[in-house]
Amino acid sequence: MGVGEEQAEALFLRSKEMMNTMIGYKELRMRYACAMKEIRTKFDVLNTEFNVLYQRNPIKFIKSRLKTTTSIGDKLDRLDIPFSLANIEKNIHDVAGVRVICAYVDDIYAVAKTLIQQDDIELIARKDYIANPKPNGYRSLHLIVRVPVFFANETRKMTVEVQIRTIAMDFWASLEHQLKYKQEIADEKRIVQELKECADVIAGTDARMLEIRKSLEAATGEQSE
Ligand code: GTP
Ligand code: MG
Repeated sequence: MGVGEEQAEALFLRSKEMMNTMIGYKELRMRYACAMKEIRTKFDVLNTEFNVLYQRNPIKFIKSRLKTTTSIGDKLDRLDIPFSLANIEKNIHDVAGVRVICAYVDDIYAVAKTLIQQDDIELIARKDYIANPKPNGYRSLHLIVRVPVFFANETRKMTVEVQIRTIAMDFWASLEHQLKYKQEIADEKRIVQELKECADVIAGTDARMLEIRKSLEAATGEQSE
């Protein structure tokens, strides 16, 4: 084989390898999308059952998202890990993300418990930022779980990040999230301080709303919306 032929051969193999990685990546995203559906359905089922048994919806709404390829790449860069399918599965726990928005704080723990106790769910990590809020005031319950997904010829266990929070915590987190995308903010220190104060007020209000709901339930002997 001449030098030119060798180069052509190497180039061919390289592009074949890249093509295989691209196909593999597409399949990996599909598997995460399916895992996300599985988890969403589990929460939907819990909500439907709860509604029939207690005439109340602990879950107000569910959002889900697949992490963009750019965000996956950025996160691997930050962790100083090379881009590969195996490294994504091993190191990035939030490729598939499901966010559950509840009305009351006790619903958060009830919903988390009913998910975790399901036979097919494996709990990898649980971070309670409600009991231990972040210094900026961020509150939510985070679960990293693994769920089996049944495909035509194989079963794959996929990792999903679940964030469970109240409507008020979600409202706060959406606004706070915008801080991260602003380059330079005039008066940033004051805004950070204001956000922290709002987070504390929200936590107080969430706690009071729960107490009121419980008082109403005790008074009427039934569960309220
Ligand atoms: P990431 O690398 O960002 O995923 O963080 P981590 O692996 O340390 O996990 P952590 O549980 O702290 O955060 C996971 C996710 O929770 C983030 O990607 C955000 O969606 C959300 N989150 C965590 N902290 C904050 C916060 O201070 N503000 C807001 N708005 N969201 C947060
Ligand atoms: Mg994240």
